Amino acid sequence: MSISVVVLAGGLGTRMRSQTPKLLHKILNKTIIERTLQTALSLNPREIIVVINPKLDAIRKALEGNDSLKFAIQKQPLGTADAFKSALPSVDNSSEWILVINGDTPLIKAQTLLEFISKAKGSSSALSILTFKTETPSDYGRIVRSGDDVIGIVEKTDITDEHSHIKEVNSGVYLLHKNTVYLIDKIPMNEKKGEYYLTDIVTVAVKSGVKVSGICIADEDELLGINSRRDLSRAISVLRKRKIEDLMDEGVTFIDPQTVYIDTDVEIGVDTTIYPNVIIENASIIGKHCMIYQGSYINQCIIEDDVVIKGFSVINQSHVKKGATIGPFAHIRPQSSIGEDSRIGNFVEVKKSNIGKGVKASHLSYIGDADIGQGTNIGAGTITCNYDGVKKHKTIIEEGVFIGSDSQLIAPVRIGKGAYVGAGSTITKDVPSNALAISRAMQRNIPEWAKRRADKQNKGENIDKE
Ligand code: UD1
Ligand code: CA
Repeated sequence: MSISVVVLAGGLGTRMRSQTPKLLHKILNKTIIERTLQTALSLNPREIIVVINPKLDAIRKALEGNDSLKFAIQKQPLGTADAFKSALPSVDNSSEWILVINGDTPLIKAQTLLEFISKAKGSSSALSILTFKTETPSDYGRIVRSGDDVIGIVEKTDITDEHSHIKEVNSGVYLLHKNTVYLIDKIPMNEKKGEYYLTDIVTVAVKSGVKVSGICIADEDELLGINSRRDLSRAISVLRKRKIEDLMDEGVTFIDPQTVYIDTDVEIGVDTTIYPNVIIENASIIGKHCMIYQGSYINQCIIEDDVVIKGFSVINQSHVKKGATIGPFAHIRPQSSIGEDSRIGNFVEVKKSNIGKGVKASHLSYIGDADIGQGTNIGAGTITCNYDGVKKHKTIIEEGVFIGSDSQLIAPVRIGKGAYVGAGSTITKDVPSNALAISRAMQRNIPEWAKRRADKQNKGENIDKE
């Protein structure tokens, strides 16, 4: 698209009361400014110029590496008109139109911007403002109209009784023809705030005979401007709901959508069911026909089709293959791969391990830095002792192995194909294929011992030394 986009991101955002710049606060997995820019980028404009304040270098750093962005510095945060003015020397001369977006308006949809641009260009106005209606105009600038035309925007600080009925407000999105840009120099300073308001371009335009149109095509939720923590939490709930409704439209079932958080980049296949209080973060991909039960947390994972994740499991940066069952109360830590049709049961922790197809580790185990071959059974309470206090070591368990319950495998160690490890063993040496390894004290039975002890006790004799 042959327009230039200017995104205003130079304000200090003091109403947020934060040590972090306002625009770097997150809405689900992305910062406010990333979301605004992502939408701006999707329009494929000639260029995007982001206005930043030198004091908020963190914003520039956070956006560095994105070659599609240009930066303009606003030396002092002297208001939105001053911010826009700071961008002008960077704007490509060949752009006929300039779209201005407040950086703190992250929920706006590309579709709405396209419609706004098309309606604005189609009107006879060289300056258009995207507006919306709200029952609670609070901090937004009120749109003053005369007939169809906009003749002013009144900011909260300047509101008088005559504006109290106005429910149409400014979204902070403007389209200007390049011939109107000169108006910016005519904007006077707002005496109350000591700032130059971009909104005052309207009165300046009207005075100069430039017609201004107000285009009201989107709702309050979409055009929410984020100034405070309250706005932030509202934005999170709007976006969360939007994402979940999109997923429902794509065939995902939610038992109680109000309690679920799913990042916008997450993909979920048809006929998967999500139970209450589930959180799925970052670009996780969940397959078809999965069941994800209550309270589970999944971050940056690939979960293939037909997987069941039972309640309160935590799965982080890992790959769970088709048909596997995880949990309840399992913890899969980064860089793990859980094989097809395998079962990782309750209170099992897996870290940086490859679990083969059909492996069962059903109860109370720690599997760290291990490779486990197909069809192996890991008994309850098995622990890979992977850390010697200095370094981590690998445990390799080949196919079809049976590890008896309560075994410790002291890494580095290899258990050969088809071997057995007797329950309660501490394995310090490699076990050859098909062998039985057993390392525990021989059992001794002392006949009638309990009876003798009871007799002594009854006679009042000392039993402490038994
Ligand atoms: C602004 C509008 C208001 C509109 C609302 C929509 C003005 C004067 N008011 O109010 O009419 O209803 O947005 O959300 O424009 N910024 C700079 N440099 C500055 C000041 C601000 O770059 O010196 C940037 C901010 O980073 C922010 C944007 O401009 O992204 C808007 O600034 P903000 O202070 O949030 O304006 P509002 O009071 O919300
Ligand atoms: Ca704002």
